[in-house]
Amino acid sequence: MGCLAILLLAASLGAVAAAGVDPSADPAVVGEFTQLGLSNCVGVQLAAVPNTDQFLFMERPQANHPDGKKYNAGLMDSVTGAFTNIKTPFSMENCGHSYLENGTVAILAGHKPQSSYVEGRRAIQVLNLQNRTLDSVGSLQFGHWLATATRLPNGMITIMSDSPSPVGPVRKDGIKNPFYELWDPTNPATTTVFQLEDVFLSNTKYFYYPFNFVLPTGDMFVWSNKYGQIINPLTGKKVLVLPNWKGIPQAKGMCTQYPFSGTAAMLPLRATNNFTEVEIMVFGGQWSYGWVNTTAVDLSMRLKIKILPNGTYDVGQWQAETMPSPRVSGTSVLLPNGMVLLINGAKRGLLGDAVSGGGAMLNEPNLTPVLYDPLASEGSRYTELARGSIPRLLHSTAGLTLNGTAILAGGDRSSRYWMPADEAYSRSPTGFAEYRVELFAPPQVFDTQNRPAIMACPFSIGFSDVTSIAYLIPNTTARVTSVVLIAPSSDTHTFNMHQRIVELEILDSDNDNNHVGVDGDRSVTVRGPPNANVAPPGPYMIFLLSGRTWGPAQWINVVRN
Ligand SMILES: *[C@@H]1O[C@H](CO)[C@@H](O)[C@H](O)[C@H]1NC(C)=O
Ligand SMILES: *[C@@H]1O[C@H](CO)[C@@H](O)[C@H](O)[C@H]1NC(C)=O
Ligand SMILES: *[C@@H]1O[C@H](CO)[C@@H](O)[C@H](O)[C@H]1NC(C)=O
Ligand SMILES: *[C@@H]1O[C@H](CO)[C@@H](O)[C@H](O)[C@H]1NC(C)=O
Ligand SMILES: *[C@@H]1O[C@H](CO)[C@@H](O)[C@H](O)[C@H]1NC(C)=O
Ligand SMILES: *[C@@H]1O[C@H](CO)[C@@H](O)[C@H](O)[C@H]1NC(C)=O
Ligand SMILES: *[C@@H]1O[C@H](CO)[C@@H](O)[C@H](O)[C@H]1NC(C)=O
Repeated sequence: MGCLAILLLAASLGAVAAAGVDPSADPAVVGEFTQLGLSNCVGVQLAAVPNTDQFLFMERPQANHPDGKKYNAGLMDSVTGAFTNIKTPFSMENCGHSYLENGTVAILAGHKPQSSYVEGRRAIQVLNLQNRTLDSVGSLQFGHWLATATRLPNGMITIMSDSPSPVGPVRKDGIKNPFYELWDPTNPATTTVFQLEDVFLSNTKYFYYPFNFVLPTGDMFVWSNKYGQIINPLTGKKVLVLPNWKGIPQAKGMCTQYPFSGTAAMLPLRATNNFTEVEIMVFGGQWSYGWVNTTAVDLSMRLKIKILPNGTYDVGQWQAETMPSPRVSGTSVLLPNGMVLLINGAKRGLLGDAVSGGGAMLNEPNLTPVLYDPLASEGSRYTELARGSIPRLLHSTAGLTLNGTAILAGGDRSSRYWMPADEAYSRSPTGFAEYRVELFAPPQVFDTQNRPAIMACPFSIGFSDVTSIAYLIPNTTARVTSVVLIAPSSDTHTFNMHQRIVELEILDSDNDNNHVGVDGDRSVTVRGPPNANVAPPGPYMIFLLSGRTWGPAQWINVVRN
């Protein structure tokens, strides 16, 4: 009963806010927010469930769930807005999430005991869709929380974070725990432990939800705060030390990890350069001296890494660019056309919740998403989009849906934030926690004439396999000009730890009229990704694009052959 009123109120506020900014705002230019529905638990952690339209949400236990129940996990359907509770014994929040090769969602680590939920920092669980449960399948050797889970080319998953944890050995030198663990799903009971260089933790200072990316060599890019290395994830050995941004005057003191959280993304890996060029981007964060009212970082940093023919790296220097607004606790959503959507977060403060309960450490919600176009010329890469109305500060998330829109969820423990008096927004009706879930449709989604629709596409693709995909585009002169695989979103605490785009090589784009099918469909022929380092096997979404416009995707498995 109350729910409908809440939704209607939110919808009307949203409309007022969007109209207030620019009455002529066209969704095809600035995108559009819509209400999806209410979740029963807060989307603190969000993981797309392969082969469905659903997202697994996990939370820190809250009172006042919309359904009055106490489940701390559930499935949100991104098409219908329906929510289904999931049973879990463990304390969930602060975990890492990834995928098995067969598409099963895996959750590693978690929170210390809270409410009726038991110690979760050593938990290893998989989502059982049939029973709507999370099943415990093993145990980590050390406790971890605020931990990044990374799927490797060989199907194993690393779980990495500092762990200020009484579980497992505590080092004499304080809270720092330099271990990361390697989990093999085919031998799930336990893990192998590796130790990072001590210098890693002393240089990063904060080592929570590190920005980890598997490079097309199989090595792992690991960045935390102000320091990073490329390591071999199977041995823990350093390959090289990454450049830092100490020498760049405007970036001095820019911190990127919890509680100063910026967000990071690896730009698309492209067949056009034989997957030898990698670009990593870090957006926003907070200054080292930052506190609850400090204006957040308004810079993004971009680093180019070239893979040389002999397998070594040519690493460039970080390039600073100015964003349209400061942002901390935001999330980046890599879009099928390689643009990056920055959304959620605040203009001031840092993460963490006040012990007083609800007192915010993040302030001045940043309600205006921006789009970063890496292909535009320097100085004109950022565009501001439609303004939203629902603040999403601490514990908010975003992910890419199968429909090519972004799902936006969560936000909690930041209810008493400060906002300039003249800024309209819609405060959570439940105060402490935000259960309203939205979709944000980027401008390109409204280019309906040029959205390719997949008519027929295989459900799996092997390395270098040649595959044809049939499609339809309303615009009869438009053709598919690129085809990309996108790994399912697995986002929390500002980092989508599974975000990856692999562009496929187009072998035949059927530009003539010789291959038009009976239904008027055309076909595009592509070559599968070259190897497991470029595209670790497992679930992906396949998107077809015409120019910069993408259509709805289909799930596809990258398989070993
Ligand atoms: C996909 O997104 C568009 C734009 O928001 C919307 O019109 C359409 O209904 C969506 N389709 C599905 C299946 O969610
Ligand atoms: C996926 O793989 C895991 C581990 O190998 C296995 O336990 C599970 O049953 C598989 N799930 C499906 C749906 O095949
Ligand atoms: C849960 O699902 C598994 C198969 O995935 C099945 O073997 C098991 O019996 C189910 N348990 C319950 C309690 O339904
Ligand atoms: C592309 O890279 C692979 C190694 O990853 C190499 O075997 C192949 O020869 C390269 N192709 C071209 C055209 O350079
Ligand atoms: C933050 O700044 C706002 C506006 O200047 C002020 O109202 C608020 O009291 C400040 N909060 C703190 C904790 O300093
Ligand atoms: C790899 O190639 C680069 C560029 O040609 C060269 O500078 C470097 O010394 C080579 N490294 C090794 C280990 O062969
Ligand atoms: C249709 O596609 C052609 C070729 O890409 C393009 O030039 C034209 O602008 C498109 N028309 C519309 C209405 O988008």
